[in-house]
Order: sequence, then structure tokens, then C-alpha cells
Amino acid sequence: MTFLFNSDATRGAIFREVLAREIPDLPFEIDPAQVDADEVRYMITWLVPPDLGAYRNIEILFSIGAGIDQFNAASVPASVKIVRMVEDGIVRMMQEYVTLAVLALHRNWTVYLDQQREQLWRAIPQPQAHVRRIGVLGLGLLGRAVLERLKPFGFPLSGWSRSRHAIDGVTTYHGADGLEAMLAVTDILVCLLPLTEETRGLLNAELLAKLPRGASLVQTGRGAQLDQAALLGALDSGHLAGAVLDVTDPEPLPTDHPLWRHPRVLITPHVASVTQPETAALAVAANVKRHRAGLDPVGLVDRSRGY
Ligand code: NDP
Ligand code: OXD
Repeated sequence: MTFLFNSDATRGAIFREVLAREIPDLPFEIDPAQVDADEVRYMITWLVPPDLGAYRNIEILFSIGAGIDQFNAASVPASVKIVRMVEDGIVRMMQEYVTLAVLALHRNWTVYLDQQREQLWRAIPQPQAHVRRIGVLGLGLLGRAVLERLKPFGFPLSGWSRSRHAIDGVTTYHGADGLEAMLAVTDILVCLLPLTEETRGLLNAELLAKLPRGASLVQTGRGAQLDQAALLGALDSGHLAGAVLDVTDPEPLPTDHPLWRHPRVLITPHVASVTQPETAALAVAANVKRHRAGLDPVGLVDRSRGY
């Protein structure tokens, strides 16, 4: 029974050390050439390896990231559990990033950065937090954590999900009608949805038009959820005031793409959250222990929902 780590050696060394401490009887390997494929019960990877079929006894395929849309789930036998990364490091980093992005948009930093380039000393009237309404798409691990972190600033907070949720201090919406209702009262929209067939292209011209004039977007989900041409259109018409994009389609964003140079857009190269190997290894070890005890791992993907 072996754990195969199919990612970079630096993180692999940390996983090796943590797993050896947490589950000493579980052999760990980073080089697929060194393992007997039949012995592999657990694998952690970013992409599904093309030779997955060679690992006939695999029981859990762990994603090294929070998202699993990069997996071709159809190529993973139904008997294999697919588990996304649920670990404290990802949560903390996403809380930091979205707080930074929301505050940057709230305090007009796209405009001030532009003014700095022009050496222009000009104050913009500043709405207070209690009138800047934040709406978060996705009330999962990350959406909820981000809302929790935003609470002390006093923004009116809303969130949208597929199923109904109740969150203290947050107005919650669900389903198609709920989306429309939330968009109408959202000044800064944060996307923390997984990429599925339902969320692909969701952030299109029609959706952006439902936001109040002067609203902004923080996109930290997946690039393919956003129609980038529609975003440019909404920014250029003045309907949207700004955007912070951590994910694009494709990645990297081509150097000649107009979003790079748009004065109201801030772009980061998919770094909002990065799996932290120490905490991730502890989370994976805990999941292997749960599996051995006959329990479902935390972060088990529901294949019928796609996340
Ligand atoms: P979760 O699975 O915990 O939560 C997903 C949320 O999205 C749930 O609330 C779910 O609703 C909601 N949702 C899914 N599909 C729909 C839909 N069709 N309509 C409405 N709501 C929907 O995911 P996480 O919070 O852990 O992560 C979210 C995503 O963030 C990841 O999938 C990944 O794409 C992205 N991410 C980006 C990173 C970055 O660095 N930019 C880093 C890490 C993650 P319900 O509660 O009803 O199930
Ligand atoms: C992830 C990511 O899914 O980095 O973890 O986007």
C-alpha cells in the first residue's frame, strides 16, 4: 500500500516528512518509476496522469489544489474517490487576497494608480463601507471564509450558492432567481465558484448588465467562468468601474490582450491562494486516516455535481 506524490520535488519532500510522522506505516514515493503500480492506493496530483489505468488498486485521487476542474473526471474510474484540497493555507491566502481586492476597489485604487502614472493629485468622493454592498458567488469553504473576514469592515454582505444556506450577518440567495436578486444589490461582485458545466461562461454580458452601474468584479474562481470581451465592454461603457482578476482564460493571458493595459483592471497570475505543503500534507494525512477508518475524506467530490 503506497502513497504516490505526483508533483514537484520541493513540496514532495515536505509531504514525505509529514506523512512519515503522521502515518509511519504508509510507504511514500515521489518517483512513479520506483513504485509497483499495483501497490499504489493513494495519489496526489494536479492533472490526472495519462497512465492512471496502470494503477489498478488506487482508492483516492487527491487534487493538489482546491479546484478539480483540471481533472478529466471521466478518465477516473467510478470506484476511485476524487478529493479536492481542503487546507488552512488556501483558506487564509484567499481571505487575504479577496480582502485586498475588495478594499482596493472600494478605495478606488485602480483610479489612483492611473492618476499616479499621470502625476495627478485629485481626490475622488469616497463612499463609506456601510453603503458598499459585497456579493460573493459561491458559499463553499472559500466563499464563507472570505465573507467572515470581510465582516469587521461593515460592508453589507450577500452570498449566492446552488442550495440554500443561512450565514450569520450575510444575506443569502440561491438558484437562478436568487442570482438576479443578489446582482441587483451588489456593488463589488466576488466570484468563488468552481468551474463546472453550469458555471462556465456564467459571468457574461447579461449577468454583468444586471449589476448596478459603477459596480466592480473580483474574479478568483476560474478563467473560463468570465466572458473577458463582455468585461471589457462593460468597463469601456462605464457600466463597470473596475475589476481585479486572478484567473484568466487562457492562462497566462496573452501579452497583447487588452485586459493587460486596461486602466481599471488589476491582474495577478493565479496566485490568490497557493497550496501550502505543510498544512496540505496534514490535511491529506488526516484524510487517509479517515479513509482507513471507513469515513469519507473531507473534500470528497460529488461527481454528479462536478465539484
Ligand atoms: P466549495 O466546493 O467548497 O464551494 C463551492 C460553492 O459554489 C458552493 O457554495 C456551491 O453551492 C457553489 N456552487 C457550485 N456550483 C454552483 C452553481 N451552479 N450555482 C450556484 N452556486 C454554485 O469550493 P471552494 O470554496 O473550496 O472553492 C471554490 C473555487 O475557488 C474552486 O473550485 C476554485 O475554482 C477556486 N479557487 C481559486 C484559487 C485561486 O488561487 N484563484 C485557489 C483555490 C480555489 P452549494 O453550497 O449549494 O453546493
Ligand atoms: C487551486 C488553485 O485550485 O490554485 O488550488 O486555483
